[in-house]
Amino acid sequence: MKRLLIAPSILSANFAKLGEDVTNIISAGADLLHFDVMDNHYVPNLSMGSMVLQSLRSYGISIPIDVHLMAKPIDQLISDFAAVGATYISFHPEATEHIDRSLQLIKEHGCKAGLVFNPSTTLNYLEYVIHNIDVIVLMSVNPGFSGQLFIPVILNKIRQARKLIDDTNRNIDLAVDGGINVNNIRSILKAGANIFIVGSAIFESSNYCEVMHVFRSILSD
Ligand code: DX5
Ligand code: ZN
Repeated sequence: MKRLLIAPSILSANFAKLGEDVTNIISAGADLLHFDVMDNHYVPNLSMGSMVLQSLRSYGISIPIDVHLMAKPIDQLISDFAAVGATYISFHPEATEHIDRSLQLIKEHGCKAGLVFNPSTTLNYLEYVIHNIDVIVLMSVNPGFSGQLFIPVILNKIRQARKLIDDTNRNIDLAVDGGINVNNIRSILKAGANIFIVGSAIFESSNYCEVMHVFRSILSD
């Protein structure tokens, strides 16, 4: 069984004091940071570029960072984020003309590669590239905003992806992104996910340690 990881999505952090907020969430037990990149083109919102990640690394943030590209095109961004210390780089198959080439580019930079699936996107994209993938990310909301409701039918997709991974016998993580809270994380775990990307349910809490503890105890139950 793979380790269960909680990845706070810093899109919901306080950007006016990002370094401090991120330090606090790490002290509260974050396993990795989820870093949402939105370009107001692939998704209808604008967030952070590679300079922000560089600033976090310079500030002393050393835990793994998972860069979620919701942008188009992506190849230049892959190089930019790899250069400033991304650990994982994940992208949506619809956002690149050449999925295999973009995956190879991530690997050439020494990062781990992820493919992200919108709620309506089929897992068929995996068929010829799964050998180059370290993490499959299933969106359980439509990308672009934090604070949306979890789409329940995605539980079936998690089960489907879990089976696919188990059948390959490869060491691939299964992440779920969007709308996760203390009421639904258990069903997401049971369906087969092992990385839980959580934005608003963590950052809207007034006590990060407490909410992380609640999540952790549900996961270890
Ligand atoms: C949505 C982002 C998510 C988002 C999650 O486009 O990819 O990572 O920040 O936030 P919550 O947990 O609030 O849905
Ligand atoms: Zn995300």
